[in-house]
Amino acid sequence: MKLKLALSMTTALALAASAVSAAEVEVLHWWTAGGEAAALNVLKEDLESKGVTWKDMPVAGGSGVEAMTVLRARVTSGNPPTAVQMLGFDIKDWAAEGFLGDLGDVAEAEGWSEVVPPALQEFSKYDGKWIAAPVNVHSTNWMWINKSALDAAGGKAPETWEELIAVLDAMKANGIIPLAHGGQAWQDGTVFDSVVLGLGDDFYKAAIIDQDPDALSSEKMVEAFKRMEVLRGYFDENFSGRDWNLASAMVINGEAGMQAMGDWAKGEFVKAKQVPGEDFVCIRFPGTQGSVLFNSDQFAMFDVSEEQVEAQKMMASAVMNPDFQVAFNLVKGSVPARTDIPDTEFDACGKKGMADLAEAAANGTLQGSMAHGHGASSNIKSAIFDVVTAHLNGEYGAEEAAEELAAAVEAAK
Ligand code: BGC
Repeated sequence: MKLKLALSMTTALALAASAVSAAEVEVLHWWTAGGEAAALNVLKEDLESKGVTWKDMPVAGGSGVEAMTVLRARVTSGNPPTAVQMLGFDIKDWAAEGFLGDLGDVAEAEGWSEVVPPALQEFSKYDGKWIAAPVNVHSTNWMWINKSALDAAGGKAPETWEELIAVLDAMKANGIIPLAHGGQAWQDGTVFDSVVLGLGDDFYKAAIIDQDPDALSSEKMVEAFKRMEVLRGYFDENFSGRDWNLASAMVINGEAGMQAMGDWAKGEFVKAKQVPGEDFVCIRFPGTQGSVLFNSDQFAMFDVSEEQVEAQKMMASAVMNPDFQVAFNLVKGSVPARTDIPDTEFDACGKKGMADLAEAAANGTLQGSMAHGHGASSNIKSAIFDVVTAHLNGEYGAEEAAEELAAAVEAAK
């Protein structure tokens, strides 16, 4: 560890020495909510302390759908940003199109291959070449519960689907909105990730990862859509279009009981000075304990002009620095993208996130999140989003939705 740190410092110093004086990175990202912006600040300040100027290119919109559209336009005009926040399959797509740079020398000098989990390297490398630096590991199958609301609803965090419904009913009876949700395609998709996983790891693999038409149109998928309908019954009437962080705020201020959302929601609780176990409770989506649907924010590095490359490499090195990964992920709600970092400084939810990730990786129950770009290509993701949202908004019943899903996925292949 000491040797690695020393190496990493040597690399940083060597890169700093050779950097042009006005080192600047232009970074496209979608971290615009309170907790996200606070985490981004940790990165900006870290780079600024190393003499690298940050040129911000924010594109709001959870899960990055809008950011990816803006990126396409920008690259088409022949002027890509230095680094882009990106998820799984999108990184592979840009690499396949030949637009990404090569982080090989930094990665080699700092030993990234030994510390980045294999599930992430799958997306950080293309043809054996490092093209992206992973800053974290998030996971989508979480629920965030207001502690007082849970106490008033009996105090026991739900572990099964049936227990979840019982708690939601109790919260409803107590006069609060049981489930805070934002009706945007990617948020609907995030809940759908957990609901499908709740019907079994094998089912998630068959339907989402393998896109098996029989699984997509199966009775189990009909059941998944029925469960989505049940959950919809616990939303308030203004859920359409709501941003995810506003839904988190409803749980924080007690207007709502819980939210099914990835652990970037924890960034909002932390920002609001909420403490796990005291003010809020984090649990795996009931029925998915022991399993993790992951997504990792990586900075995909574009093939930029010679004078930008040094700053780009400094940024990659800074992102992979162990101390930085702790500081950043404490604020972001995610866990480090390196396996050699102790959980000492993390709160109870962060410790759980790290332990769950290691356990799922060891047990074969770690799978990529569909809604956040790690379970299926972006074409298939959008096809799934369309059907899930149309169904949630009452366009189809559960049976028709399962059929539509199988057809839409087939057409997107
Ligand atoms: C990203 C997170 C982000 C969330 C909401 C996810 O796809 O991985 O970093 O906070 O979207 O914007």
